[in-house]
Amino acid sequence: MPIKIHGNGREFHLYNHKISYIMTILRNGQLGHLYYGKAVRDQASFEHMLEIRIRSMAPCFYEGDREFSMEHIKQEYPSYGHGDMRCPAYDILQADGSRITEFVYESHCVREGKPALKGLPATYAEQAREASTLEITLKDAWIKTKLILTYTIYENLPVITRSARFICDHEDGVVLNQAMSASLDLPDSVFEMVELTGAWARERNVKTRRLEHGVQSVYSMRGCSSSNYNPFIALKRPDTGEHAGEVYGFSLVYSGNFLAQAEVDTYDVTRVMLGIHPHCFSWPLKKGEMFQTPEVVMVYSDSGLNGMSQTYHELYRSRLARGPWRDRARPILINNWEATYFDFDEEKILKLARTAKDVGVELFVLDDGWFGRRDDSRSSLGDWYPYRKKLPEGVAGIARRIEEMGLAFGLWIEPEMVNKDSDLYRAHPDWMLSAPGRSACHGRNQFVLDFSREEVVEYIYQMLRHVLDEAPVSYIKWDMNRCMSEVYSRAGRPEEQGMVFHRYILGVYSLYEKLIRRYPHILLESCASGGARFDPGMLYYAPQCWTSDDTDAVERLKIQYGTSMVYPLSSMGAHVSAVPNHQVLRTTPIETRANVACFGTFGYELDLNQLTEEELEKVRRQIAFMKENRDLIQFGTFYRLISPFEGRGNVTAWMVVSGDRKRALVGYYRILEPVNEGYRKIRLAGLEEGIRYHVSIQGGGYHGGFKEIDVYGDELLNFGLIVSDSSSGDNKEKYDGTNGDYQSRIYMLEA
Ligand code: DGJ
Repeated sequence: MPIKIHGNGREFHLYNHKISYIMTILRNGQLGHLYYGKAVRDQASFEHMLEIRIRSMAPCFYEGDREFSMEHIKQEYPSYGHGDMRCPAYDILQADGSRITEFVYESHCVREGKPALKGLPATYAEQAREASTLEITLKDAWIKTKLILTYTIYENLPVITRSARFICDHEDGVVLNQAMSASLDLPDSVFEMVELTGAWARERNVKTRRLEHGVQSVYSMRGCSSSNYNPFIALKRPDTGEHAGEVYGFSLVYSGNFLAQAEVDTYDVTRVMLGIHPHCFSWPLKKGEMFQTPEVVMVYSDSGLNGMSQTYHELYRSRLARGPWRDRARPILINNWEATYFDFDEEKILKLARTAKDVGVELFVLDDGWFGRRDDSRSSLGDWYPYRKKLPEGVAGIARRIEEMGLAFGLWIEPEMVNKDSDLYRAHPDWMLSAPGRSACHGRNQFVLDFSREEVVEYIYQMLRHVLDEAPVSYIKWDMNRCMSEVYSRAGRPEEQGMVFHRYILGVYSLYEKLIRRYPHILLESCASGGARFDPGMLYYAPQCWTSDDTDAVERLKIQYGTSMVYPLSSMGAHVSAVPNHQVLRTTPIETRANVACFGTFGYELDLNQLTEEELEKVRRQIAFMKENRDLIQFGTFYRLISPFEGRGNVTAWMVVSGDRKRALVGYYRILEPVNEGYRKIRLAGLEEGIRYHVSIQGGGYHGGFKEIDVYGDELLNFGLIVSDSSSGDNKEKYDGTNGDYQSRIYMLEA
């Protein structure tokens, strides 16, 4: 078992052939951190790794001893107020007003496999031997409260997962005002912090900044994980790039308010912590009650950012996502949103579906507007029954008609929301989050239902059941179109209001779980105005997510490149939409739109009936290509090659390689046509040196004079693939469909 206990049960070494994680019980019984990084050989003791030396003026634990100061000791789950001056992992308000705590080692246990976290999403092990788990129980005797720190190491992945659990046994109870999922003290600060930032329609852009003394963080206090920051940070060495170098990734399996921060103290120790954002969080624990934090997934890579991402992809694709769709190539869909918006009726939908079927689409998704009396965003959220004016035979009727055409049928819902103009609101105005004596902000004309209340969740579930029991629905897109404000539950007591944000997310998870249990065959896609809840918590329930409302091919390069930092291609909803693009008014070739979208879960989101015959023929070929290659794309190994965030950002490239390395696809994208530029090639990745690959371009074409070649993997890895295609500037040059702006191509490599 890859967990060894040394030093009379005082040292813990979690290791596999890639990583080591070492901890020790300190002299005062608290838990100290010794090492996390590339695997080191196991040995009888690692005591020498603990550095303790006199620091003048430090608060010291033992009278007469000037060395032992918690301020200068690396720890596993630090507190504030009892020697350490840095940011704490938790905060407990006690009945006497004190916040001082002292959790000391009580016991530990090691077990095979990975226990589930009650009510929370988490990675899992399918077989016991895939992972080993260490639980360390610490106890604060004064407040009769236990703290259980859980660590899991996967046998074959450079992954450690962590979470914390508090159990109170004190008659007076305690109040948890902060409970991070994990804290880690790294011994130096020579790092850059990589984060995924943005906003609606420009989610998960990659930003990198040097760590400095003080606190640097990303966070959400929006009630969802948000499009502004993703619950992820990585600390990389300054010279770490995509293919080489050391990096630590931290990803929180949670969909609500979060904080991910790195604090560098003035002795250059870096303390990283992630968890539920402490602002507005306060969780009373009565005697006998417990609180479980969400899970943090830590990945170590010494093969650059691609190495880190590939580990996340593998873990999240196969041991976070669940259900029958986990390992299946995803259906090619058409979504009517950008084709019709709210303006549709049955005839329009069926006409679109017929053309979609004709070009090879497999799933029709009916988006917003099918319920209540929904003609625009001002009404009907909460009324989950069919809008008969648009769908005279209801959802069941249209779903059956679509199924008869040979297409699967999918449906959009937004179960957490309510419009004031709805039967639901009229019947239950107190089911909306809102604070007494305050006005309530709307977002897109809608308000947030109080999902912290079980009866609200159950009511929505029953309404959805009515629809889903009757209609043959095989896909659901679960949307969520606003951030939360006035987060106050009309059903909660004053001291419970600090629980609402988290309870709300637990309510969301419980509705997902109910739907999954009753309709296990349904493919779920999460969505929150595009990608405002693209997080690992959601992936546990919905194996794919609508990546962004921005469907422009150029913008999508950045969004998909950034998203791939953590999330697998099988999770990234990506569609070909109309031109001029509805978000940025840009006109890109249909080939480029498809070449970007096919690196994801592919679909169309436009009125196919507006396309010319020639364009429809292209769509047919794109779909045929995707059907042939989606297994490779969605389940192969993904490498980012050229970043749109670096240099002028004019070129982006990425590739995906099959498990046996016999096939690969390289996506190459060039935004503006350069003139008279230097020669250019890209060094590929992940190929087998000794395999001879036939290299061609999907769809053929001139592409700057590219000729099909047969070359060995080592040449493509070291010399590279020539991609020079700049215009010579000769005004006699003609546009041939593969030159000019917004060009792209997919190179196909076959052994
Ligand atoms: C936001 C989603 O991201 C869109 O795809 C679409 O479903 C709209 N909501 C519908 O209101």
